Amino acid sequence: MKKAFITGIGGQDGSYLAEYLVEQGYEVHGIIRRNSVPEHQQSRIESVRDKIHVYYGDLLDQSSIEHLLDKIQPDEIYNIAAQSHVRISYDIPQFTAQTNAVGVLNILEAYRRSCPNAKFYQASSSEMFGSSVDEDGFQRETTPMNPVSPYGCTKVFGYNIVRNYRNAYKLHASNGILFNHESPRRGSNFVTNKVVKRAVEIKLNISDKLELGNMDAYRDWGHSYDYVRAMHLIVQQNKPGDWVVATGETRSVRDMCEYVFGKLDLDYKDYVIQNQKFLRPEELPYLKGDSTKIRTELGWEPTYTFESMMDEMIEYWTKILIKDLIK
Ligand code: GDD
Repeated sequence: MKKAFITGIGGQDGSYLAEYLVEQGYEVHGIIRRNSVPEHQQSRIESVRDKIHVYYGDLLDQSSIEHLLDKIQPDEIYNIAAQSHVRISYDIPQFTAQTNAVGVLNILEAYRRSCPNAKFYQASSSEMFGSSVDEDGFQRETTPMNPVSPYGCTKVFGYNIVRNYRNAYKLHASNGILFNHESPRRGSNFVTNKVVKRAVEIKLNISDKLELGNMDAYRDWGHSYDYVRAMHLIVQQNKPGDWVVATGETRSVRDMCEYVFGKLDLDYKDYVIQNQKFLRPEELPYLKGDSTKIRTELGWEPTYTFESMMDEMIEYWTKILIKDLIK
């Protein structure tokens, strides 16, 4: 039985990955950070909670990570934990850097000392490309990285230190460069779930407006379930490397609102207003990923379309909010 160790197991990606690895017959271990409301912390992993091992841990607490890796001796390590919100990285830039940059170094050091024969996956991000776009309108593995947020800058460090440790210490350490990925489990302060939740509330007369920031930013949105399958595939390769994971389609926040409100027979223009509070000091205007490398080399394909993903999220919030109304 293969053993996997997942940081950020309680998050959107961590929970899909834990479920997927349990299905594949893995013994799954993972860490969550202590917080004052423990009830909410493990809600995403409820379906597999009795099949996995969960510990308190933190990327900033290297000795606890090293102790766990020593004890578990995992075959595969997935470093998915992060301060993952780009706008919030402006509010807490130093914490973001500690977690997303120094945190990666901490777990790499623990890995190198405790279980150097394991395979390592780092959650790198399309936010690293920042303002760079190739002439054909795509970002790919070779596109220069010009990050435009504290979050993006910290992720570039994580990406580079993984490559450095791979070469310097001959570790099987890989980066997945994942474009935006969503699901009903997405935090509701990320734009897709924020829009869906509020649009359903408006439809049910619980709310009457939606405040957003920049509606003209373009993103390449895939589904978290498809992207955790990509993480697993990356780790199974004989040789470590770096792979972009993306749908190859891009839409604006406005297009996404039009689709979601349209599905509910509403016109977004009647409800959406701009609030400066949600604008970023510097915006990343456009993302569209070329995932040819992972599709041709590793045979990865997404199973969701943009529409089937958004429909799943609309259905999820409709069920939850109607249940709350009936209570
Ligand atoms: N969150 C949010 N809230 N975003 C808004 C809003 C709003 O009210 N209004 C407009 N937006 C725009 C943002 O300015 C951004 O251009 C876009 O919607 C997407 O924002 P998010 O959903 O917050 O995601 P992100 O693109 O900043 O970052 C996500 O994707 C990265 C990969 O490119 C996160 O998941 C990162 O962790 C991930 O690395």
